[in-house]
Amino acid sequence: MARQFQFDLQATDGKARTGVISTTRGDIRTPAFMPVGTAATVKAMLPENVRATGADILLGNTYHLMLRPTAERIDNLGGLHNFMNWERPILTDSGGFQVMSLTSLRKLTEKGVTFKSHVDGSQHHLTPERSMEIQRLLGADIVMCFDECTPFPAEEDVALESMRLSMRWAQRSRDAFGDRPGHALFGIQQGSVFREQREESAENLKSIGFDGYAVGGLAVGEGQEAMFEVLDYAPDMLPADKPRYLMGVGKPDDIVGAVARGIDMMDCVLPSRSGRTGQVFTRRGALNIKNARHQDDPRPIDEHCTCPACRNYSRAYLHHVFRTGEIISSMLLTWHNLHYYQELMTRMRDAISEGRFDQFQRDFHTERAKGDL
Ligand code: GUN
Ligand code: ZN
Repeated sequence: MARQFQFDLQATDGKARTGVISTTRGDIRTPAFMPVGTAATVKAMLPENVRATGADILLGNTYHLMLRPTAERIDNLGGLHNFMNWERPILTDSGGFQVMSLTSLRKLTEKGVTFKSHVDGSQHHLTPERSMEIQRLLGADIVMCFDECTPFPAEEDVALESMRLSMRWAQRSRDAFGDRPGHALFGIQQGSVFREQREESAENLKSIGFDGYAVGGLAVGEGQEAMFEVLDYAPDMLPADKPRYLMGVGKPDDIVGAVARGIDMMDCVLPSRSGRTGQVFTRRGALNIKNARHQDDPRPIDEHCTCPACRNYSRAYLHHVFRTGEIISSMLLTWHNLHYYQELMTRMRDAISEGRFDQFQRDFHTERAKGDL
């Protein structure tokens, strides 16, 4: 039988790991960065262009798609891959995190969450069982457990209650997901910044058993130092032979630090969202194209970058189309940022394979410290 969902670890360097997740829809090279395609599109990009930046997998959202156009409609139209014209793997988040961050009127109980749509104010329910059903209707290759992302800061007893609720929901997610060959279910560790809670959560998830394990509840306002402190121990609590996914991270230096601490997968809206606000990432740090200093500059964003924005356009042109609100501005800047992120992942995978990840990290920070030219 064809390999359906498998993680092959190919090399490690310190705690950093590189490998391949094989799925029925193609391979995912790790460490992997997943561009965010919330509403069945990576904003401003054609799917073939997202692929051209080097993405192996996209992230989609239960919350947005259940409201519009609905999971049942997508199922009737042949599933999310067909609907959005992306045939490679898709991971979907389970909805709870988005309910808590995007809706105002909501109620959380043992059963699940009730909330009002941010689109039209209509009332909806989400439970572990319904989240599993929606992610099945969407056709996600990697399904996430329904959890509560513990807000930060949280008192220790509040965080503990929240984590234990997520663990009961993890068991219900596992039961509702059932046995679906070719589809993977990932558990999500919670426990805020409390080591014993992270340990209890990990033990709980491992005894339930998942195809992969996420570190949740980070990048919620605790700052990089506190996040790295948790990442110094949390990934080690999760099985070494399964993918580890850090949810919602992050800036380029967050990603490098997470990989150094044993993370295999990440997602973030930053490269795509920043592309629409004029912020672009380069080896020498971030810059904003709307700044007046770019208006007469004939050079590309980054002379070493091979993306279409850098091969064919000057900073002056990109500044002009950004300032005039032209649609091509979002297209080119998003493309550049996604290309930068994917190239960063490639550089890390190569460095890990070749046993020079420490040197890679030193060079990454040295180059960034130089600043824009
Ligand atoms: N996205 C960012 N953090 C989280 C989390 O803790 N849980 C879920 N489901 N999604 C997230
Ligand atoms: Zn570029």
